[in-house]
Amino acid sequence: MRTTVGIIGAGPAGLLLARLLHRAGVDCVVLEARDRAYVERRQRAGMLEQGSADVLRECGAGDRLDREGLVHRGFELRFEGEAHRVDLPSMTGGRTVTLYPQTEVVKDLIALQLEGGPPLLFGARVVAVEKADGEQPLVRFVTGGPGGQERTLECEYVAGCDGSYGASRRALPPGAVRIHVRTYPYSWLGILADVAPSSDELLLAGHERGFALHSMRTPALSRLYLQVPNDTSPDDWPDERIWDELDIRLAAGSWRLQRGPVLTKSVSGLRSLVIEPMRHGRLLLAGDAAHIVPPSAAKGLNLAFGDVVTMARAFTHWHRSGSTSLIDRYSDNCLRRVWQAQYFSHEMTTLLHAAPGADAYDRAMQLTRLRRVTGPTAAAAELAENYAGAPLI
Ligand code: APR
Repeated sequence: MRTTVGIIGAGPAGLLLARLLHRAGVDCVVLEARDRAYVERRQRAGMLEQGSADVLRECGAGDRLDREGLVHRGFELRFEGEAHRVDLPSMTGGRTVTLYPQTEVVKDLIALQLEGGPPLLFGARVVAVEKADGEQPLVRFVTGGPGGQERTLECEYVAGCDGSYGASRRALPPGAVRIHVRTYPYSWLGILADVAPSSDELLLAGHERGFALHSMRTPALSRLYLQVPNDTSPDDWPDERIWDELDIRLAAGSWRLQRGPVLTKSVSGLRSLVIEPMRHGRLLLAGDAAHIVPPSAAKGLNLAFGDVVTMARAFTHWHRSGSTSLIDRYSDNCLRRVWQAQYFSHEMTTLLHAAPGADAYDRAMQLTRLRRVTGPTAAAAELAENYAGAPLI
């Protein structure tokens, strides 16, 4: 098989890239290890910056988003038993964010792709990317499950959109890139609950017992998180204990948290990672393959979109003019936004989590930061601007 851009991975990054390239007339093929049902069910992020929602609309994937997405014009920061609303439009020139689950973004993009977009092969697991530093890279993949048939895809460029544990990272020769990693001394216990959200907007609490987040998947499903120590097992947290702790950390005035059946419960660690540069020869990385952010600022999906918009522009320019100038600047252009998101995600994380061993002085510093970002200050405007994100197109 042969194509212009071989895309590894049909997560949001690979699917949006395929859509953008297709519209620009650049040939591509998407190889996805899993089957369609698995990819469409995988629970992940759910907050789209205005820029991400605009890109989806621009490429024809905005109909259901506009019907079902929940537009949020602000969120609340809670601490010391008080609620402080951060209003986004008034501080960002009118920008908002939209809650629309990643599963739905993926379903919409897959449907468009299968309606006449470029080929998308499910059950096609990439096992190697070869000759990335030559003129004609080669992607080896296996179809038909374990012991299946090995096939090859010859391309001009390869887009590594295969997440944190994909084949693209493994194709980077030792010493070709620098990998920056930070881990955090706490994790998130997340639940999906069959109960209508107790608030129209997101509530983020910076309690001295630890962080808590009240969010929503749909008008009937709540998504809630608690900071827990690393190595916590979900079994240590029976449902009642979770609700009791959420009540304590999210408390503000007469507000009440509605409880309901817990549908899923899981613990995940927080980490930051950046691969620099995001390119090796003709292999360009995007999304989780290139970087990870802690979820505190909901930047993962939006960063992935930022990467592939930049990548699609670079490939389109090369395809039309023969110039590789934008491909050559791809990594630098992305990394500016990536580091900005790393910084903001790190700030939000340390602003709201209780670090193990933190003392009264640390807490006073944290409360001072919280009061600054919720007061009528430049710090508040900076928070709103980073939260809402910059336009992508
Ligand atoms: N061959 C083919 N496909 C692969 C391979 C492989 N060897 N390894 C992984 N994949 C596929 C995965 O099955 C997955 O569908 O690559 C896809 C990667 O998708 P994501 O992990 O969703 O990553 P990305 O598209 O970069 O999405 C950005 O934003 O919300 C955050 O972390 C969250 O997934 C989200 C990310």
